[in-house]
Amino acid sequence: MDRTVPNLRRRVSFRQLEVFEAIARLGSFSRAAESLHLTQPTVSMQIKKLRESVGLPLFEQIGRRVQLTEAGEALWESCEELFEALDRFEMTVGNLKGMIQGRLSLGVVTTAKYFAPRLLGGFCERYPGIEASLDLANRDQLLERLRESRDDLYIISQPPGDLEVEAVPFLRNPLVPLARFDHPLVGRSKIPLEEFAQYPFLAREPGSGTRRVVQHLLAKHGLSLQPRLALGSNEAIKQTVAAGMGVSVLSEHTLTSGAEDVCQLQVEGFPIELQWNLVYPKGRQLSVAGQAFQDYLLAEGPKLAPGPMRREASA
Ligand code: PGA
Repeated sequence: MDRTVPNLRRRVSFRQLEVFEAIARLGSFSRAAESLHLTQPTVSMQIKKLRESVGLPLFEQIGRRVQLTEAGEALWESCEELFEALDRFEMTVGNLKGMIQGRLSLGVVTTAKYFAPRLLGGFCERYPGIEASLDLANRDQLLERLRESRDDLYIISQPPGDLEVEAVPFLRNPLVPLARFDHPLVGRSKIPLEEFAQYPFLAREPGSGTRRVVQHLLAKHGLSLQPRLALGSNEAIKQTVAAGMGVSVLSEHTLTSGAEDVCQLQVEGFPIELQWNLVYPKGRQLSVAGQAFQDYLLAEGPKLAPGPMRREASA
């Protein structure tokens, strides 16, 4: 083993540390390449150089995941301190320039696409120095991203039970039962859940938060979800309800347009009142951009409440 202690300040580049940090966080070279928009050979090359500079292996392969060696763990701790110091510096520079700057990556659950892009648009207009990105995924996929700390902040209505997170509610998210305007349940009040559950149901795909809530409600009443069709998008469900293929339950946010033939039903136990939350790992200090987004969301979020449906249940 090479026992000389290398002069790392001269030999290690910031880019190498950035690549190293992404692999350690995501547990994979290919995911790190994807998140940094680099090719995998570039990522491998950066790590090879870093390893040569350090003089010790930084990762070991355990099955399909890469794990940190002892030297890797120590380097990761140093990286975190370094990146935090840089974030603080960025904040100071931003304050000196009288402008908030930085990057913000937002992970948003599929159903929040009805308001999140508008919200982010307004935010970017107010803070032109912030470079923001938004990724959409269903609840299960988003929780996977949260577990891997792939984004700065998340918008989700059902925070995970098995992860320590901060969840800041900012907007109502009522889930409502739907059918086509000529469905026999339309116009009736106090429809028993058992009766509603007898009709062919159009469900979101497994992994969806909406599907999970409906499943829980039915299970609480000894009923089970038996979808006639499972569809990967709220829009597709709306169109299928409008085609008269069955009933469904969706967030009221999805009904702002394209739902002319769809009616809300008066089923007992509905609406299911959820809240949209801004979520991030507990104890994480938000970056300046993240803090600015949270403040913006708490001020502007409540204005995004879903509007009334065009067609009422009694139509
Ligand atoms: P979904 O989640 O878009 O995956 O159904 C919605 C939610 O979190 O309520």
